[in-house]
Amino acid sequence: MNEKKKILVTGALGQVGMELRELQAEYPEFDFRFTDYEDLDITDDRAVDAYVAAYRPDFIFNCAAYTAVDKAEEDVAKALAINSTGAGHLARAARDYGSTLFHISTDYVYDSGKNSPYIEGDPENPGGIYAITKLLGDRAVRLAAPGSIVFRTSWVYSAFGHNFVKTMRRLGRERPELRIVYDQIGSPTYARDLARAMLDVARQMASGVIDPDRAAGIYHFSNEGVASWYDFAKAIFEMEGITCRVVPILSAQYPTPARRPPFSLMDKSKFKETFGLEIPYWRDALSDCLRNIRKNES
Ligand SMILES: NC(=O)c1ccc[n+]([C@@H]2O[C@H](COP(=O)([O-])OP(=O)(O)OC[C@H]3O[C@@H](n4cnc5c(N)ncnc54)[C@H](OP(=O)(O)O)[C@@H]3O)[C@@H](O)[C@H]2O)c1
Repeated sequence: MNEKKKILVTGALGQVGMELRELQAEYPEFDFRFTDYEDLDITDDRAVDAYVAAYRPDFIFNCAAYTAVDKAEEDVAKALAINSTGAGHLARAARDYGSTLFHISTDYVYDSGKNSPYIEGDPENPGGIYAITKLLGDRAVRLAAPGSIVFRTSWVYSAFGHNFVKTMRRLGRERPELRIVYDQIGSPTYARDLARAMLDVARQMASGVIDPDRAAGIYHFSNEGVASWYDFAKAIFEMEGITCRVVPILSAQYPTPARRPPFSLMDKSKFKETFGLEIPYWRDALSDCLRNIRKNES
């Protein structure tokens, strides 16, 4: 029998990491090692090197990140250490020990004023510290380990951790009315769909369906379709039977420390064409996640 291919997951207590755990039974050909800050701090170069040298993963899924977008404006050193330098440590270890790094990045790197979907290779223009540190991370990864795969994703939510869906579910039940911005346009992403995409790509690589050189590169990944945060909130309330009134407001009426791109739709053709995989529509994915949240609560 063939030995199982090994996947090292970092930041495994986060949204994407937790969804990877949920899916592991569907991918029996892989041996998973889930780590978070306590087991493997990606900002510690030596620890990363030692861990990868000992475990010798075929794949490293980097789900570790500094994701507090507004806090990052003040916490520059920490965001940089995790999102940029830490990503670079993993890339170097991947290169040195023959692993393929799957790294996750963000739509927030794109803020160049384009008003049609961004394609991979479009000039980025990150507007805040979080976005800058993520872009530097992408570059560090691609430089140190050109065989890596970078998934740029957007508006991630899941049944785990803190996210817009869970916050809206709570606030919508507590308050009669919520004011939500309608002039930021993008695509929500159920972390489970992203986790599944990563595993499906690893499966194709592990089984030789796709050549690693062809697979390497940057890919956009979110659920299908388009929404504003206002539409997203309306859909959550509709599906949950929450009667809270949603008032559409402009971003200028809800100032935040970090700038967010008003339009960050990403074209996903490259992902779909390279791997021949389909992506669920965002409302279907949301309904799926809400079902899982309710299941976890019962
Ligand atoms: N959330 C979004 O809306 C969104 C949108 C676009 C892209 N992304 C990207 O998607 C990826 C996954 O996001 P997510 O929402 O799953 O993030 P998340 O829920 O914030 O999870 C990140 C995990 O990494 C851990 N971590 C932090 N510093 C670490 C370190 N030095 N070493 C090891 N682990 C560390 C965190 O621990 P603590 O919680 O203890 O810090 C947390 O468990 C990230 O790369 C993020 O930038 C997210």
